[in-house]
Amino acid sequence: MGRVVLVLENLFPHPEKQGGPHLVITSGKGGVGKTTVSILVADALARGGWRVLVVSLDQAKHLQEYLGLGETNRAYRVDGGLWALQFDLEREAERFTQEYVMLLQQIMPGLKALNLEKYAEVVRNSPGFEEEIYLRYLEGLYSRREYDYIVVDTPPTGITLRILGLPGNYVFWLERLSELRERIVGARYVISKALGERPEVRDPVLDKLGELRQRYGGLRERLSSSRDTSYVVVATPEPLPVFEARKTLEQLRRLGATVRLLAANKVLPPDKARLLGVHGVQRKSLEELAQLPCPGECRRIAIMATEEPPHSLTGARRLLERVAPLQEVLSA
Ligand SMILES: Nc1ncnc2c1ncn2[C@@H]1O[C@H](COP(=O)(O)OP(=O)(O)O)[C@@H](O)[C@H]1O
Ligand SMILES: [Mg+2]
Repeated sequence: MGRVVLVLENLFPHPEKQGGPHLVITSGKGGVGKTTVSILVADALARGGWRVLVVSLDQAKHLQEYLGLGETNRAYRVDGGLWALQFDLEREAERFTQEYVMLLQQIMPGLKALNLEKYAEVVRNSPGFEEEIYLRYLEGLYSRREYDYIVVDTPPTGITLRILGLPGNYVFWLERLSELRERIVGARYVISKALGERPEVRDPVLDKLGELRQRYGGLRERLSSSRDTSYVVVATPEPLPVFEARKTLEQLRRLGATVRLLAANKVLPPDKARLLGVHGVQRKSLEELAQLPCPGECRRIAIMATEEPPHSLTGARRLLERVAPLQEVLSA
């Protein structure tokens, strides 16, 4: 336990008293131990006396199994200050679609039920729909003031990177749309004047565009602010996971985000690695992980592989005895 404290201590900034929870977002290729590391980090924080929620957005729903959570989309207390929630995309998507249908009904009361169904289906099957659901959910987490930290276990890397890039894309398009709208409003103004009418000065569309720009600009800011959000990247010492870690770190740098932890998981002891014929590959991958440019001067750790895969909170805790600074493992 003493070691762990050393390796994981003071990794994340203390959450602001009024500012809502600090988000810790864990990313990595499927199977590398994202869920495990999320639990590990959340547990370490909770045992440090904080109120912590670990949320899994991954639809493989391993967190639910791992911690024996009942229903999805509901937080369960796992231990002391530690809570856990398995997010269910399907259920949330259904709820969102229903809300959308209700909104449509309000705007266009004449719309037939059949047409409403059709609209709902189009929304449901639109590219980017799932990312939008995830993004809204992430946004909502920042206002869960009952927690000091929320550790987020993410869906597959590709989806995660798209989600994180969305607010910036939205802001870009909203700005272009606002420019267009301003031109339309300007032309309308000139025409009304010419016709001797009293031109409308306020434009509800421009107002709405402005409101959305504010909202997504704010979210982009939060996701990349070191005060509100920290990132954790996990990889196993193999070429593909290391490649994904590199891509993720590059994208996080572009977003201006702060990575506080880079974890090499399931590291085999040298004799075992030799026996399995992977010593060279593991060594090379670990060296690469030690050198990957990391936005935010992340701490680099190695977590040794256990014979018995951890599948419970106790199992995850056992891993804590196998955590060491990456440099130490490399020079051993
Ligand atoms: N250090 C480790 N040693 C041995 N098995 C591990 C270790 N870390 C994770 N595992 C096992 O690897 C599998 C994948 O881990 P998980 O955390 O679910 O990965 P991910 O969330 O990235 O898909 C699980 O069976 C887990 O028990
Ligand atoms: Mg997982």
